[in-house]
Amino acid sequence: MSKTLGLGLAGFGTVGTGVWETLQRNAELISDRSEVRVDIKRIAVRDMSKSRPEGAPTELFTTDWQEVVADDSVDIVVELIGGTTTAFDIVAAALKAKKPVVTGNKALLAERGQELFALSHEMNTPIHFEAAVAGGIPIIKTVQDSFVGNRIQSMVGIINGTSNYILERMTDAGLGYEEALTEAQQLGYAEADPTLDVNGWDAAHKAILLATLAYGFIIDPEKVYVRGIERVRGIDIDFAKRLGFVVKLLCVVHEHPDGTIELRTQPSFIPQSHVLSSVNGVFNAVAVRGDAAGESLFYGRGAGKDPTASSVVADIVEAARGEAHDGSHRGFLPYQDSGHVMAIEDTETPYYVRFDVTDETGVIAKIAAVLADAGIGIAGTHSPVNAEEPDADFVDMVFQLHTCKFGLLKETLKKIEALNCVNSRPVVFRIESLG
Ligand code: HSE
Repeated sequence: MSKTLGLGLAGFGTVGTGVWETLQRNAELISDRSEVRVDIKRIAVRDMSKSRPEGAPTELFTTDWQEVVADDSVDIVVELIGGTTTAFDIVAAALKAKKPVVTGNKALLAERGQELFALSHEMNTPIHFEAAVAGGIPIIKTVQDSFVGNRIQSMVGIINGTSNYILERMTDAGLGYEEALTEAQQLGYAEADPTLDVNGWDAAHKAILLATLAYGFIIDPEKVYVRGIERVRGIDIDFAKRLGFVVKLLCVVHEHPDGTIELRTQPSFIPQSHVLSSVNGVFNAVAVRGDAAGESLFYGRGAGKDPTASSVVADIVEAARGEAHDGSHRGFLPYQDSGHVMAIEDTETPYYVRFDVTDETGVIAKIAAVLADAGIGIAGTHSPVNAEEPDADFVDMVFQLHTCKFGLLKETLKKIEALNCVNSRPVVFRIESLG
């Protein structure tokens, strides 16, 4: 027989509304499958006067989240307000009250997970966070449970729907960056403040969580190299196309033989022939390589109301089952005291570098000489172009470079930037072969 558990929601925005709708629509199905029923008892909102969908349970609203957590009829607390301050207080208060938490808040767990997972451990009360990574793709459960018998060798992913949507619209429709961002916001993909979407940190927070699950230690976000898509220009997207690549905001997590973890997020060139190149729009994908399973690819909608609600509801049901039946699922808890994130200077790939140069005799030779001195091989150069002003003195020149350490590349590019014929900071993209 189904047991009924009470839910308290903090936040009734895009995802909160989706959770309420999904729970209503599929109540019978959920109960048949899980032998639990969940019933929303209280909902904390910031603004009572905001317009809500028809039939929204406004009678459950309060502006005081503490009322929600303290309510005796609330067994499970669902945090969907985002941010790392009030959200932290809500999650901490729920754990202290021994109420399991469901959250989709990657920034909160990546930035303040140390304190929250310690509290979860102390109170023996789980935090579930499937919705924090890759929207509707069940990647948390996959890495945490399904791959528990694997050493995870790498995870490579496209895990920010907003950036992916913007890059696709810039690539295929020739849209400007701002125009594409506005579209992504209108479609409900972007965070309330899209800064973290476009500066790479939303994806990086998700990569940090995946790496934490895979390697068991809390990762200091300051050790992680993160670049966003704000500086990607049409010219680089066009060059990528000409050279057989696509520009994607890529997260790379890779365990090296000495146990260090390479962990970085940045716009990268990936081969047009690789399956990840066809992950477009709001879709996300994560390729996971385990020593037993080999490579598996997970693909789906990475943002938006219903896909994210799907993951939140899965966690709610898991939390409810734990409460109703045996209380056995304790969520994720770190199991290593420490681990080592590789310094970005020690990571290595081939690169695409674009220089803005004065179109004068010998400019290629001057740049090539500095690269040769540093021992960096050139895989190809591409003639000066200035699409807008074909007769201008200033042109873009592209070098494809062989694999070298990023630290060496940075030092060498500083020397090249100091040449008189180079007019601004070189633009660098990694070329990921994804072999
Ligand atoms: N803003 C996020 C994205 C939503 O664009 O992927 C899911 O975290």
